[in-house]
Amino acid sequence: MIGGLAVGDRVEVEVGPVAHGGHCVARYEGQVLFVRHTLPGERVVAEVTGIGSGNRFVYADARAVLTASPDRVVPPCPYAGRCGGCDFQHVALPAQRELKAAVVREQLQRLARLDLPVEVEPVPGDRDGLRWRTRAEFAVSDDRRVGMRPHRSHEVLSIDDCLIATDAVVGTGVLHRDPSTIAEDVGAFDVVAPSVGEPVVVPVPQDEAPDPVPDVAEHVAARMLHRQFAVSARGFWQVHPGAPATFVDAVLEMLAPRPGERALDLYSGVGVFAAALAEAVGPVGQVIAIESDATATRHAEANLAAYR
Ligand SMILES: C[S@@+](CC[C@H](N)C(=O)[O-])C[C@H]1O[C@@H](n2cnc3c(N)ncnc32)[C@H](O)[C@@H]1O
Repeated sequence: MIGGLAVGDRVEVEVGPVAHGGHCVARYEGQVLFVRHTLPGERVVAEVTGIGSGNRFVYADARAVLTASPDRVVPPCPYAGRCGGCDFQHVALPAQRELKAAVVREQLQRLARLDLPVEVEPVPGDRDGLRWRTRAEFAVSDDRRVGMRPHRSHEVLSIDDCLIATDAVVGTGVLHRDPSTIAEDVGAFDVVAPSVGEPVVVPVPQDEAPDPVPDVAEHVAARMLHRQFAVSARGFWQVHPGAPATFVDAVLEMLAPRPGERALDLYSGVGVFAAALAEAVGPVGQVIAIESDATATRHAEANLAAYR
């Protein structure tokens, strides 16, 4: 219990601004509630679902909407509200982007003391905010069902489609696996649909890292970069297929690197920005890529070998 609120209590609250993590902030008798499935300006009945760290706030979920935001929509996904994968399916797409911009603006302000205008734009080729994830992790239950975990839960919700995953990810059939074909030690499946080649499904054991993990190939076609990158099927790659080229172009436009300059690519992953920067600074320039993950560093060395 915190400030008189215990898990299971229902209270009527006026919902305030969005916060990092997919919820909005509300207050009840001096207590802070982080409420999921609501929108700023709404009046909802919120049910307390958990106590936050240090007993400083509670988690809650909107159980009834008393005054709805004009930005509220019927979620396209039938699992929305129960599945922990998406936070904003109940929000119209333009308003989802405004919420994300508000979160980034607030984080820049709070963590870096920077007051910057932030706008979230759709990546070119975006299809209604759906069918864009080229990488997904699906959980496997003790009785071998494949699905998604509800928010902050160890349960597994069976699903037969995921509307934000690409057709290629869902088309692997991972969500319809016959339970008897799933090995007992498998706790999850990582699914990757790279831009080059066939989708890959990696069974992930419950208590250890899978071994071996295949590599996949990703192609980036940006303003100054047309290259293929090797990356581990479980390594980091931007999940939206339009993101790498969009980000590369944005970095080059804002940084305007010139031949002969020295650039740093911090948190460089398998080297996509380092490659674009190497193209821009040319053979007399220098790019220093810094990355802590050993597998990503190995891939970056190979991906960037042509620039050495
Ligand atoms: C979000 S990924 C971005 C990778 C790459 N820039 C891209 O967009 O494809 C962040 C990367 O930072 C790396 N990383 C995390 N903490 C780090 C640290 N303290 N020092 C160096 N790299 C780190 C991770 O291993 C990961 O590859």
